[in-house]
Amino acid sequence: MDAANRSPVGPLWLIPSFDVYYTDTAHRRRLHRNSVIGVNGENMTIGEITKIVSKVFKPADPIVNPDQFVGRQKEKRKFQSAVLTPGYHIVVYGESGIGKTSLLNVSIKELNDDFEDHIIRYICSENTTYENIFSEFLKKTNQLYEERHKETKSSRKLNAGASINILKGGAESTFERLTAIAPRLEDAYTPYTIVSEFCKKPYLFVIDDFDRIKSKDVKAQMADTIKIMSSSSSPTKLILSGVSNTASALIGSQPHIMRYFVSIPLSRMRDHELTEIISKGCATLGIKFSAELVKLICKTSNGLPYFVHLLAHHLSVWAMENQIEHLHTEHFFSVLEDIIYNVLDIIKESFDDALESYEAHELLGYQSQNETPPIIRKLVIMALSFMDVFSAQDSKHLCNLVLLVNEMAEFRKLELPNSFAGGILDNEVEKVVDEICEISDILRNDGKNNQVIFSNGYSKGYSLLQAASFCGHQYFLKRFLK
Ligand SMILES: Nc1ncnc2c1ncn2[C@@H]1O[C@H](COP(=O)(O)OP(=O)(O)OP(=O)(O)O)[C@@H](O)[C@H]1O
Ligand SMILES: [Mg+2]
Repeated sequence: MDAANRSPVGPLWLIPSFDVYYTDTAHRRRLHRNSVIGVNGENMTIGEITKIVSKVFKPADPIVNPDQFVGRQKEKRKFQSAVLTPGYHIVVYGESGIGKTSLLNVSIKELNDDFEDHIIRYICSENTTYENIFSEFLKKTNQLYEERHKETKSSRKLNAGASINILKGGAESTFERLTAIAPRLEDAYTPYTIVSEFCKKPYLFVIDDFDRIKSKDVKAQMADTIKIMSSSSSPTKLILSGVSNTASALIGSQPHIMRYFVSIPLSRMRDHELTEIISKGCATLGIKFSAELVKLICKTSNGLPYFVHLLAHHLSVWAMENQIEHLHTEHFFSVLEDIIYNVLDIIKESFDDALESYEAHELLGYQSQNETPPIIRKLVIMALSFMDVFSAQDSKHLCNLVLLVNEMAEFRKLELPNSFAGGILDNEVEKVVDEICEISDILRNDGKNNQVIFSNGYSKGYSLLQAASFCGHQYFLKRFLK
């Protein structure tokens, strides 16, 4: 029975022995010593609490343990069936933080533990070259061979005379050759030599964050490699994963190789799946979130599991620190500033770009007639994050946006600069939306429907957090949760 299906019997830190909850023994020992936190006077340090919570809600870590993985059953099956079908390579794509690496980890793990011996991973960066990728591949295949070889030799000694199947298909000669050739690899880095010399085993070569590679040449060489692999029936499979709207854009617009790929797009997670992430984690930690708090987390997260883990993480640490077992929406507002502070800088960047020196402007009081004060931009971005869809050409959308902007300004008793004294007008708001699209990449016009959208889920989630902090508990819940 997995941890998620057990009924929680009380908060984790009040249970004298909660072996049922943890499989990590080092962890369990530590918790065990401090198990009755606040009851026998032995409080845990914040560091210890954070460590425990980080095993469950992990915004910075992809999921590895299948018990913690929620949803994505269709995608997992498609992935696993492609791995087991000769000739297919795989491409996994979707937004940043949507769960690509987690899907790869869990799908591979579930296939078969023996598969672990055949997996090679590479994480790309901006300047990754073809040589970088395949020298890592060759280094790992050599290591795998040597480990296997050592294991086999020692088990031969132990099991004198037992027959041991190293790898199916006469692996020995290929591997010995590979080891011998490895030091002279520089000469051999063409797609043809890579495939014909080194891709003779059923390796799963996972190349993650493929979108980060800037060079078109590297992507073209990868495309050639795949073409040659397929035409020579190589048993090695490439699994490419990265941030993209389409599979072909990720691979580098190489339509001729698309037919060798099984594409797995990852869309935003549904609210019931996000709820399951929270309830599984809460059951493990012995904390309860009220239904309204769960709804608030799901809505703010907008289908991105990253935000669910981030919000639940901070709430849980706070709950354990303050020994509160049952959390409600007002607790969300107690940890909000901390959450905003801890959001990844890369997510904050486009928001800050749109505001420029917001604080300086606010302090000095906005004077120039030619430029929009950053506070108006901030109001517009926050108001847009409340709306599902916005098109300036739709008078209803514009009306709603203007209403929200003015309402928030009034609610906070903002003294707007002179030109906005009587409230912000439709045409001013419309101008500000255009200006934000121009000066930052937080918003963009989607072209097709003339709708203005947030460039990614992170931007929208972060703007919502800013709006919650700006407007406070009551206004935010009234306007946003409704
Ligand atoms: N199916 C899932 N169930 C539970 N949590 C998930 C799931 N998928 C992803 N997560 C969580 O969401 C966050 C992002 O996951 P992950 O790192 O796999 O996304 P990614 O798409 O690979 O992100 P990036 O684009 O930054 O590489 C992590 O906190 C991870 O633990
Ligand atoms: Mg990833």
